[in-house]
Amino acid sequence: MARQKIVIYGDEVLREMCTPVKEITPELKEFIEEMFVTLRRVKGVGLSAPQVGVTERFFILDLEAVELEHDKVVMINPEILSTSGEQCGEEGCLSFPGLFVEVSRANEVVCRYTDLDGKQKVVRAEGLFARAIQHETDHLNGVLFIDHIDPVEREMLSGKLKKIKVS
Ligand code: NI
Repeated sequence: MARQKIVIYGDEVLREMCTPVKEITPELKEFIEEMFVTLRRVKGVGLSAPQVGVTERFFILDLEAVELEHDKVVMINPEILSTSGEQCGEEGCLSFPGLFVEVSRANEVVCRYTDLDGKQKVVRAEGLFARAIQHETDHLNGVLFIDHIDPVEREMLSGKLKKIKVS
């Protein structure tokens, strides 16, 4: 399989509404395995399908470095059922190299998803795990982390964003 290329901000694919995964095929499993290789290579925490050019609803997380419990998570067709609390922290995104901004998120989420074996699961997440689920689920709806900061702050970032943007 060819090396996956991470899509950078400015590419329209990052603004698309992704479609549900209908079937977990061997090809999908192989693609997801490759996404973990890609994620490790760039030392990231999460990677969504549109970030590697596929407009379908799935993402992976590798929280090994930060939360031993949740290393190598695959969420297919995730749905955030409820949120509560608030957390504010610095966030980055592989599609925005070098950009880190304070983003306010819910502190806890309950998320239903399908795992790689096709089983429906519900997870209650908090802290960084919850933040990552929200960030990656946003990607599946064409929403980016910069959409969560206020307009004034975004204006201040416009120079940096222009540098990142592919045209
Ligand atoms: Ni991201």
